[in-house]
Amino acid sequence: ACSFTSAMALSQMGIRNVPERYILPIVQRPTLDQKPHCSTMALPVIDLSPLANPSLRSRTIEEVRVACKELGVFQHVLKLFVLQVINHGIPLSYTTDALDVAAEFFTMPNETKMHLASSDVCQPVRYGTSLNYINDKVQYWRDFIKHYSHPISTWIDFWPSDPPSYKKKMGNYAKAVHILHKMLMEVVFESLGLRPDHLQKDIEQGSQVMAVNCYPACPEPNLALGLPPHSDYGTLTIILQNQQGLEIMNSNGKWRSVPVTNGALVIQLGDQMEVLSNGRYKTALHRAILNSEKERLSIASLHSLAIDQKVTPASKLVDEKCPLSYKEGSFGDFLQFISDNDIGETRYIDTLR
Ligand code: SIN
Ligand code: FE2
Repeated sequence: ACSFTSAMALSQMGIRNVPERYILPIVQRPTLDQKPHCSTMALPVIDLSPLANPSLRSRTIEEVRVACKELGVFQHVLKLFVLQVINHGIPLSYTTDALDVAAEFFTMPNETKMHLASSDVCQPVRYGTSLNYINDKVQYWRDFIKHYSHPISTWIDFWPSDPPSYKKKMGNYAKAVHILHKMLMEVVFESLGLRPDHLQKDIEQGSQVMAVNCYPACPEPNLALGLPPHSDYGTLTIILQNQQGLEIMNSNGKWRSVPVTNGALVIQLGDQMEVLSNGRYKTALHRAILNSEKERLSIASLHSLAIDQKVTPASKLVDEKCPLSYKEGSFGDFLQFISDNDIGETRYIDTLR
């Protein structure tokens, strides 16, 4: 059995102060700017429509490579990999429906959601709060539903059956985003000088976890966080958000807000991509901040190789100049790590570097 008070329940009580367990040590607190647009990151926007045209494809690949390069301080190192993509092939109705049904899910009565509650990070479908509320020393102001999503026919029966349209709406988006991930992996591999079909079969058979997040309005957003600084374990994370709140650490060590651009999705590089690239690309350190006005929703689709598949650098990217820099690890190893550690304090990628 598992019991907790959700952030949504606290928010709905109308409390004036966050409970003490949510209050971060001073150095970890966000510095909330009066004018959030001042600290918004100018992320490159990559148009994916030319990919279908063989004569224009290489230009998009180059755009991706240059975009990553220019975000870094050191021009010769591809330091950071976060961008936005447009004309990605996912209809606007799918993204709208997915966010709408997520909002509906979180506004349901607590008893309805608690049927899916679990503190076991290995459960393929689970409702929860904070990051890992059993291990977290400080609680994070977030509720979530996470579910395995690929192959969808294996998992969809376990997804929430309330709201009744959840499976259909979230399912349409999940399938479309899985196709987008495959397309993006080809682009990323090509931008690294690998063949576009590098690991194609492993990527097709890989895992997709959707984290549907709700950050309710928080009475003291300057004292707490929605999620602590962390990097995602996988290859790429594709993020859909209804308002600003995701922050990325830029190459100068400053937190910058990721903009919400109409029709665009945010692509974030994860630990497995850093390993596969032998460090040419770096995993994105990010966190979620809060606001006192309005709940924020995000849907992060986390892609990785299959749960037991060990990930190692591509042999073509290992040579005398760039010796092997990573230990092998899998999604399963990551799950073991987070059930044993507080990832607000230690990072999985550091165990591989
Ligand atoms: C995450 O995946 O770390 C959360 C993303 C977000 O809420 O924007
Ligand atoms: Fe994340």
